[in-house]
Amino acid sequence: MGITFYEKEKLFKLDTPGASYVCGIFDKEGFLGHAYFGPGLEEPDVGYLCRTQEPPYVPAVNNRDRLAFYDSFPFEYPTHGLGDYRDDCLAVRTAAGNTALKLTYASHEIIAGKKPLKGLPATFGDADQCTTLEVLLKDEILGLEVILSYSVFEDVDAVLRSARIVNRGNEEIYLTKVMSACLDMDNESYDIITLHGSWARERHVNRRPLSKGTQRVSSIRGESGHQEHPFMAIMDHNADQTMGNVWGINLVYSGNFVAGCYVNQFDSLRAYIGINPEDFCWKLMPGEEFTAPEAVIVYSDTGLGGMTRNFHDLYRNHLIRSAYKDKKRPVLINNWEATYFDFDTDKLLAIADEAAKVGIEMLVMDDGWFGYRNSDNSSLGDWKVNESKLKGGLKYLVDEVNRRGLKFGIWFEPEMISPDSDLYRAHPDWAIRIAGREPGQAREQYVLDLSRPEVVEHTYGQISEVLHSANIEYVKWDMNRPLADMGSACLPADRMGELFHRYVLAVYELQERLVSDFPNLLLENCSGGGARFDPGMLYYSPQIWCSDDTDAIERLSIQEGTAMVYPLSAMGAHVSDCPNHAVGRVTPFRTRGYVALAGTFGYELDVTRIPEEDRSMIPSQIDMYHKYNDLVRMGDYYRMASYSENHEFDCYMVVAKDKSEALVTFIQVLGRVNCHSRRIRLQGLDPGLRYRLEYVDGAADESKGEGTDRTYLGETLMKAGLLIRNPRGDFQGRLIHVVEA
Ligand code: DGJ
Repeated sequence: MGITFYEKEKLFKLDTPGASYVCGIFDKEGFLGHAYFGPGLEEPDVGYLCRTQEPPYVPAVNNRDRLAFYDSFPFEYPTHGLGDYRDDCLAVRTAAGNTALKLTYASHEIIAGKKPLKGLPATFGDADQCTTLEVLLKDEILGLEVILSYSVFEDVDAVLRSARIVNRGNEEIYLTKVMSACLDMDNESYDIITLHGSWARERHVNRRPLSKGTQRVSSIRGESGHQEHPFMAIMDHNADQTMGNVWGINLVYSGNFVAGCYVNQFDSLRAYIGINPEDFCWKLMPGEEFTAPEAVIVYSDTGLGGMTRNFHDLYRNHLIRSAYKDKKRPVLINNWEATYFDFDTDKLLAIADEAAKVGIEMLVMDDGWFGYRNSDNSSLGDWKVNESKLKGGLKYLVDEVNRRGLKFGIWFEPEMISPDSDLYRAHPDWAIRIAGREPGQAREQYVLDLSRPEVVEHTYGQISEVLHSANIEYVKWDMNRPLADMGSACLPADRMGELFHRYVLAVYELQERLVSDFPNLLLENCSGGGARFDPGMLYYSPQIWCSDDTDAIERLSIQEGTAMVYPLSAMGAHVSDCPNHAVGRVTPFRTRGYVALAGTFGYELDVTRIPEEDRSMIPSQIDMYHKYNDLVRMGDYYRMASYSENHEFDCYMVVAKDKSEALVTFIQVLGRVNCHSRRIRLQGLDPGLRYRLEYVDGAADESKGEGTDRTYLGETLMKAGLLIRNPRGDFQGRLIHVVEA
């Protein structure tokens, strides 16, 4: 494992436990080309895959067709304007107005460990966990340097890439496009998966064959977004959960992104990911540098399941940093769906009283505790406690909640400003807006111009004052509208194209300060549900609210798409009241619990008012959470059936790393009559170990041979499978604990 430079062949080989990535220096000019990323290779010399022995050859041999070379060579970091007509990675505008550039190899360095990315979230690892290759490329005419960085970890099949652009010339250069990474390969009839949705309908899986031309997903909303996601998977047409080649690409960034695939005239595929170049223009003065966010590229030859487990391990071991990273999270109850804005100290304490009785461990006070906010039309920016609602103040409430044995958490939406707020009346220019144009509202609010240091300072000061005022152990950081009307009162015209990225950098700065100053705080990011569920946010918060749709059946598809990339430990999931507030559906309390167990687990309901039958189930649900959460948080995730594909049922399991136990979740959506039981082939077990099946909640059907004392070889459960009888009724679930016998 690690990274080797083969001097004679001029090739770099990056090895992970099961994969190799090969790139190298070609032609006298030193173009950096991509040869291979796939199953581990013993010998490095696969440079022939760059096809430089075929027409149009390299410029040194065939300069008359230089443009044809540019347009077909598999570049590691293709540039704009000289004849590579595919979607490229880097474009500039010089003082003279030119846009083209050419990058060739200058030097390289192989380093133990991995450097942080300045101001940006990124994966981390020390010298014995990872190795980094830095390749310096130059455009001599422009005096521009590009440092491409590639890191590989000892424990996961992934290559982490980023790019740093340095202006060594004498004039300013405007960067108009900076991708983080690109992967040039042959399109061997691949499929592509991307994740799509909307508010309350996030990250639904969309799979289709790759076809000629450009296919891309993107955001220009200033956040990664509900609608599309900074992720794509490219895979063999017949790849499934258990077999086939899959390359999964994700961006550690929380703002505008683009992830695209371009299939050209020769059926070559160029996949790329980075900051969306639309409305992006970064002025680089002589001596200055710009760092692109980190791109994650994982490889699996065991299908989508292998890709998912690579992402989960990488993010759990090398991206999430919180004190809670490896810990069970307190079981919380959030008052949003319980009360919305209609609460006061008494109501919250009544919820805390009842919550304490059933074993809930933390009360989270959501939106509506500050300024004069009694609906979503005012007070964002005025982070002072509303004492007419919270009589006795915040400290009194927190102390009382603590006295009942519960921790206390609070909601903020720090990036926003209501037109009806003291802050806006004092500083109307602190809102992002275009001079002379009335900015558009969303949820009756504007976005703070975080490109201004004084706005960042003020915002942080307010949050930190509240957090210091009482024993607050959790923060939900919300963000409820996309950005628009992009203008800043402080940026000059030739820097206005920096506003989107400066905004994201400021969000990172704020969250970095928060987690450094309050290292034991449990931070949960949220954006109107799941509009900023991305790896960038995971660097600061170990969990993110997955969606405002808490209906157990809707959540099957949302959580399937989310868990395809992100670990279950990060997925905010709660049991909520019925009829569900988003879709009006009534599902069994038990099933709601099973679905929420696949995430951080908690409650989003008024525990003083739900039916006694449901309330009485909470203590056993919490016991289940305590019993299974280590497994769910740290285990390997396998998907056996997808409701969004088969429209009938969902089934997934989590297997302990040592294979000693597993938890299978099965949800039958509509009841069925006169049908066979379902046969489910388990995955990920040790074929040679014997296992016992424990039907949680005593749901076994003895007449079908379930729940007996019999044990099964792991091989039997995986090859022959087990039978799950049809549950009676709609929206019924089964939870099966598979334990080493
Ligand atoms: C959107 C979040 O997703 C909800 O959970 C809740 O916190 C509301 N915002 C509050 O305004």
